[in-house]
Amino acid sequence: MPRAIISPSVLASDFGHLNAECKRMIKNGAEWLHMDVMDGHFVPNITMGAPILSCVSKGVPGIFMDCHMMVAHPERVCWVNDIADAGGSLYCFHLEATSEPLLLIDAIHERNMKAGVAISPDTPSTAITDEVADAADMLLVMTVYPGRGGQRFLDRCVPKVSELRARFPHKDIEVDGGVGPKTIGPCADAGSNVIVAGTAIFGAEKPEEVIALLKSTVETAQAKAAGRS
Ligand code: DX5
Ligand code: ZN
Repeated sequence: MPRAIISPSVLASDFGHLNAECKRMIKNGAEWLHMDVMDGHFVPNITMGAPILSCVSKGVPGIFMDCHMMVAHPERVCWVNDIADAGGSLYCFHLEATSEPLLLIDAIHERNMKAGVAISPDTPSTAITDEVADAADMLLVMTVYPGRGGQRFLDRCVPKVSELRARFPHKDIEVDGGVGPKTIGPCADAGSNVIVAGTAIFGAEKPEEVIALLKSTVETAQAKAAGRS
């Protein structure tokens, strides 16, 4: 079973103090930081790109930047190179945004980043072929429509996590969107092990408690699943 990893989404942080916010989350138990890159094309919003990520990686040494690329044409060499140069650790692109996922995964690996493949709520899990999943390091099941934080969790996306976990028992499977103490249960039971949460963590009075709860819920579900097999 891949281990439980909590990746707070900085979209819900105080962007005016981004480095301090990342450090605060690491101190509170976060292993990864989820960086939502939006380009105003794949999604209507614009958030941050390589120049900002580069400041974060310099200001927060050792940070693991889980870059969620909500961009059109994620296969463009400039995107991959810029994010790699900025210190990105994982480059997760949307399957809906490219026709060459395998080539893109190779390009990401060539720049020494982990490769992630994301699917939006209307994309079935079967759109991720065995070949693509085997090449990728992580699969991301969106539990809201990409584009903004603070949306309501879509339960109907959860079965896709179970389907992917059944096909790929050892792969990192991430959930993103509306995840928090109230919605982690079904995600964990379905088999996701990388948990993104923005509002639920940054909006909490005690983020360390939320991070610990999300992690322990995944670990408990994993122990239960291991007992069954
Ligand atoms: C949505 C983003 C998410 C979002 C999660 O487009 O990909 O990462 O920031 O935020 P919450 O947890 O507030 O839904
Ligand atoms: Zn995201």
